[in-house]
Amino acid sequence: MQIVCGIVTVSDRASQGVYEDLGGPALKSAAAGYGWQVVAEGIVPDDRTEIQRAIRTQINQGCQLILTTGGTGVARRDVTPESVLEIADREIPGFGEAMRMKSLAITPNAVLSRSLGAVIGQTLVLCLPGKPAGAVECLGFVAGAIPHCVKVLQEVPTSC
Ligand code: MTE
Repeated sequence: MQIVCGIVTVSDRASQGVYEDLGGPALKSAAAGYGWQVVAEGIVPDDRTEIQRAIRTQINQGCQLILTTGGTGVARRDVTPESVLEIADREIPGFGEAMRMKSLAITPNAVLSRSLGAVIGQTLVLCLPGKPAGAVECLGFVAGAIPHCVKVLQEVPTSC
């Protein structure tokens, strides 16, 4: 099954063009490497309404998996996790747990990331850290569970 994927970069500065978005392209090439089809990309500021709108837009475009990068930390403007949870049907705690646990072997700052996985309708949303390498690393730590999760959410028959 081909996974249809969207990517949302959450960053005040990247959305204003103050600096180039590197996280979105890094995730796009990682997603392509996993064989997923990236059909939507967006860049939004650290703003609840904008984050939620971007996610809803990509769901309406048929995304079964949405990867966000940025805004998971502890700065006052970091609101990605709460923006997603506010419109989510449920969180899947294992995604955040695995990302933090594995990332702690790389940097002690991993504990600061509120990375998570959540379900909105039939779509899996993963909130990843803003640093491009961190986002790609965190995706890699949970990538093995994503195809099965997407299949179950899409109600495609699975063998387990
Ligand atoms: N996780 C991994 N695997 N690699 C990283 O480099 N960076 C951390 C953390 N998680 C990092 C990581 C840092 S420095 C921060 S501040 C938090 O993610 C939150 O990042 P964000 O606020 O840009 O989303």
